[in-house]
Amino acid sequence: MKIWICPGSFDPVTMGHIDIIKRARKMCDHLIIAIGVNDEKKATFTFDERKEFVEKCTKDMDNVEVDTFEGLLINYASKKKATAIVKGLRAISDFEYELQMALLNKKLDEKIETVFLMTSINYSHLSSSAIKSIAKYDGEIKGLVPDVIHDDIYLKLKKGK
Ligand code: PNS
Repeated sequence: MKIWICPGSFDPVTMGHIDIIKRARKMCDHLIIAIGVNDEKKATFTFDERKEFVEKCTKDMDNVEVDTFEGLLINYASKKKATAIVKGLRAISDFEYELQMALLNKKLDEKIETVFLMTSINYSHLSSSAIKSIAKYDGEIKGLVPDVIHDDIYLKLKKGK
């Protein structure tokens, strides 16, 4: 069975992430959405909240599982017997960071590949942080996040104030 990992902060999951998830799940037998800690970012939503958001958005995707992990991604991927890590690339600005991660992860475990999918043009401007800024100031995020989590994002942001 071909198991792939789609890692990220998902703080929160966006339409851009969902686009990558939908495409990646067709390329493997089982796709694990792995919500992890990015040491360079301070998360707004808790692990549980982020997991709940992704679960709501992927509940009809039969070969998709949602999980959280702490520690190194490559160790998690190896534990899950994954053959590849899949990530979305939006722009040149993503490339340098993602290339470094891919090369380091390859150095740590050469059996696990990193696969990049180019984000669809419709979502190339999207980021979780932009969505949080818009929602925090009561801007409209419809179409930027899946409808099933639209209201939850405003509610949870207000609760965290
Ligand atoms: O959505 P993000 O913020 O780009 O996701 C980044 C994430 C969480 C996938 C990345 O920071 C990560 O893999 N964190 C776990 C720690 C790790 O393995 N770091 C890489 C060392 S080479």
